[in-house]
Amino acid sequence: MTLTSIKTTTLFAFIAVSVILVGLFPFLPLPEESTGFLVFLGRFHPLLLHFPIVLVLLALIAEGLIVYQVKTLKTAIPNLSFLISPLLISALVSVLITAIGGYFLYRSGEYQGDLVRTHLWGGVLLVLTLNGAAFFYWHSKNGEIKREHRLYQACLLAANGLVIFTSHMGGSLTHGKDFLTEHMPSFQTLKPAPVEQKKTEELLVFQDLILPIFEDKCQSCHNEYKLKGGLQMTSFASLQKGGKTEKPLFIANNPSESELYHRITLLDGDDDKMPPQEKAPLNEDEISLIKWWITSGAIEDMMLGTEPPDSITTLLQGFLPKLYQSERLKMRQGEELEELAKELAEFGKDIGLVIELDPEYPGFFGVSMEIPPATINNQTVNNLMPYATLFSKFSLPGAEIDDDALFEIGKMSNLRALYLPNTCIKGEGLIYLKNLSLLESINLSNSCLSNDGILNLIQLPEIKTVYVWGSKADTLMLQALRKNLPEMKILEEEGAYY
Ligand code: HEC
Repeated sequence: MTLTSIKTTTLFAFIAVSVILVGLFPFLPLPEESTGFLVFLGRFHPLLLHFPIVLVLLALIAEGLIVYQVKTLKTAIPNLSFLISPLLISALVSVLITAIGGYFLYRSGEYQGDLVRTHLWGGVLLVLTLNGAAFFYWHSKNGEIKREHRLYQACLLAANGLVIFTSHMGGSLTHGKDFLTEHMPSFQTLKPAPVEQKKTEELLVFQDLILPIFEDKCQSCHNEYKLKGGLQMTSFASLQKGGKTEKPLFIANNPSESELYHRITLLDGDDDKMPPQEKAPLNEDEISLIKWWITSGAIEDMMLGTEPPDSITTLLQGFLPKLYQSERLKMRQGEELEELAKELAEFGKDIGLVIELDPEYPGFFGVSMEIPPATINNQTVNNLMPYATLFSKFSLPGAEIDDDALFEIGKMSNLRALYLPNTCIKGEGLIYLKNLSLLESINLSNSCLSNDGILNLIQLPEIKTVYVWGSKADTLMLQALRKNLPEMKILEEEGAYY
């Protein structure tokens, strides 16, 4: 496709149509939610946009080379000018199609808010400057008229700037605002999540407990860019604003009249149920917590306080560790986690332990003995305390530790499995493990577990499996325990190591 085969008048007509059509986009009425064919076309936008990005950049590179040649060699050899017209024509066509696709996607209402408006404006200005560049280029008779040629170069430069700006805005729209920077190397390690640093009674019911539920299960459709049903669920204020139906989301002390509560408690299969069927529903704890908050007045800065009802205290025992864990996970991803893994591996080596990421629980670490094992005692366990909340598995078979070490281990709030066979644990320290709400199994085979000590298992009813092979506990005791702890498997086996 060369200029000689396409009349200049045709090109100018194309430019005029593009500019008028795309120039109108920002001024057309605000989008209604729509579905169907236009949305189907719109979904091609993220695919198409790569063409104009590359073409606009290539045009700039070609122009740069020509300028360089003319400046240094006084002439363009080989003359790259023949590239400019085809590049401009293909850029114009692809940018127009992309812009129209983008506009259809915008009209679908899937994206709303300031960021998408900025993206739209970026795209429109890009189309205008690129068409400007082409217009001046062909007016300059392929570079013969100096002033027009300068204008062409300026527009082309501006178009490239707008490509960067607009695609960054688009990237933020689809991937979230921090997409570019989230994996920027960061050298800070080990921050407990901010919620975790607060005393339980100081936790804010809405901000600290309920908002993370929405973040998890609602915000994918109700955020500042995507407002399904016209509803944004990212803050107290946005919830108060409500959605399209303008029904109040919560009415103080009256959950059953509150649209929010109504939507999450509808029966499965109801079209109005939130989140919609294909998404993970809220669990009972989450629903009870929201109900309690509304019943208590739906106040933005209500604190948990020292005396929430028993039902809430109980549900928080399961809820809080999971919340802390997910908050911490959010903070430790990507590079930060790699840094941390390196730091822990080195630290472990210094004290004779292997500390590695636990593939079963992403973001957490497993601690195990070196082969051959180094001398490990209570002091070693104590040294690990700065990292206590990072461990999901803890395995010290044969270590010279006793029940005092269990006091420190009791602070490893994310522990799932504890392996302490062949140690001198008698069992009186088991009581320290009471707060480890995620702990599922303990291996105490061939340890010094005594008849009195093992009785402390009564305090740990959540634990699913305990290995007690070779302990000093007698049969009567084991029978009694099994009777009182029907959910717990107390196995006279050696059990697995980690
Ligand atoms: C998969 C997307 C999706 C998820 C996830 C989702 N919603 Fe919705 N939500 C919608 C859509 C679509 C509408 C509009 C249609 C309707 O009203 O049912 C809507 C509407 C609503 C409305 C009505 C707003 C109004 O006034 O019209 C409420 C309330 C609501 N959602 C609450 C929630 C809650 C609470 C959650 C999380 C527990 C949630 N949604 C999760 C898609 C979603």
